[in-house]
Amino acid sequence: MKILVTGGAGYIGSHVVKALGEEGHELLVYDNLSTGHDWAILYGKLVKGELADSRCLDEAFSAFKPEAVLHFAASIQVEESVRKPLRYYRNNVSNSLNLLDAMERHGVRNLIYSSTAAVYGIPDRMPADETMPLNPINPYGTSKVMMETVLRDIASAGNFRYIALRYFNVAGADAQSRIGQAYADATHLITRALKTAHGEYPKLSVFGTDYPTADGTCIRDYIHVDDLADAHIRALNYLVETGRTEIMNCGYGHGFSVKEVVSVAKKVTGIDFPVEETDRRAGDPPELIADSTKLRRLTGWQPRHDDLEFIIQTAWDWELKYSSRLKANL
Ligand code: UFG
Repeated sequence: MKILVTGGAGYIGSHVVKALGEEGHELLVYDNLSTGHDWAILYGKLVKGELADSRCLDEAFSAFKPEAVLHFAASIQVEESVRKPLRYYRNNVSNSLNLLDAMERHGVRNLIYSSTAAVYGIPDRMPADETMPLNPINPYGTSKVMMETVLRDIASAGNFRYIALRYFNVAGADAQSRIGQAYADATHLITRALKTAHGEYPKLSVFGTDYPTADGTCIRDYIHVDDLADAHIRALNYLVETGRTEIMNCGYGHGFSVKEVVSVAKKVTGIDFPVEETDRRAGDPPELIADSTKLRRLTGWQPRHDDLEFIIQTAWDWELKYSSRLKANL
C-alpha cells in the first residue's frame, strides 16, 4: 500500500515506518523534524512540512496519492501540556483537523490514529478497557479525547474509517540500535533513568512516593516500541480488510512502579545512579494498565517483548550508541 506517515521521523513513528517498510509498503513520511530526525527514517521518502501548512499537505497528497494515513505527529508530554495547554490544542487538535481536511480533499479514507491511555484519566477499574469512561486529567489527554470525538463523528458521516490505538507507556528501541528515543530533553522515565546512569543528569527524581500503590510510586504498563509497531501493522490490515472503525488499547496488561523501573535500570546498566524522591508531578494518574484483549482478539496481535529487562536493555544499547554518535558530531 501507499501510506503517508505523519511524524514518521519521531520515536514511535520511525519504528512503525521500519515495520511497514519491512512489509514492503511504499511510504511517504510527513514531518517537521521538530523532535524527529531524517536519519531515523529507514524506509520511504521524507517531506519536511508542517501540518498547519495546507498547501504543503496538498502537494504531498497530490504527488504521492496515499491509500492510508498513519498519524503520529503530536505533542506528547503530560507535564508540559499542563503548563502550555494552548500548544497542545493547537498541535494535537487544530493541526490534526488540517490533516483530516487534506484527507477529505484527496479522497483518502483510511486512518490509523495515535491515541493514548491518558484519555482515561484516573480509571476506576484496572486494567482499563476501551469501554471505560473518558475523563482525562491533563490537556494532553483532553486533546486526544477531542480528536477521538472528531474522528467518531466523521466516520459516522460516512466514507471514512479509522482505528484509534490507545498507547500505554511506550519504551525500548530497535534491537539493532538503528533508531530509538532521541529528544533533546528526555522526560520519560526509562530514558531519563538511563541518561542519569550515563552521567547526563546528576540524579533521577522519583515524582511522588505517596500514591495509593504498593510502594507509593506510580505504576505504568510499559510496552516495547516494536510490539507497538506490530500492533499498527495488524490494525492497518484489519482496517483495510474489514473497513471497520475500532478503538484498541495497546499494552501488556501488567505494570511496574517507578521504583521497580529504577531498580531494573540499575541492574541492566550496572550503575547505581543517584535517585531522589520529590513531590508529585502535575497531571500524573497513580496507575495505568491496559486491557488489550480487543487488540489481540480482532487482529491476532501477540506481544514478543513483554520483558522489562529486555525493554530497558534495548533502550540502554540505543542510549550508548546515540550519545557516542552525538559526541562524534561535536
Ligand atoms: N517519572 C519519574 N521521574 C522522571 C520521569 C518520570 O518519577 O524523571 C514518573 C512519572 O511521574 C510517572 C512515570 O514515571 O509516574 C512515567 O512517566 P513518563 O513521563 O515516562 O510517562 P507518562 O506516564 O507520564 O506518559 C506516557 C506518555 C504519554 C502517554 C502515557 C500513557 O508520555 O503520552 O505514557 O500511559 F499518554
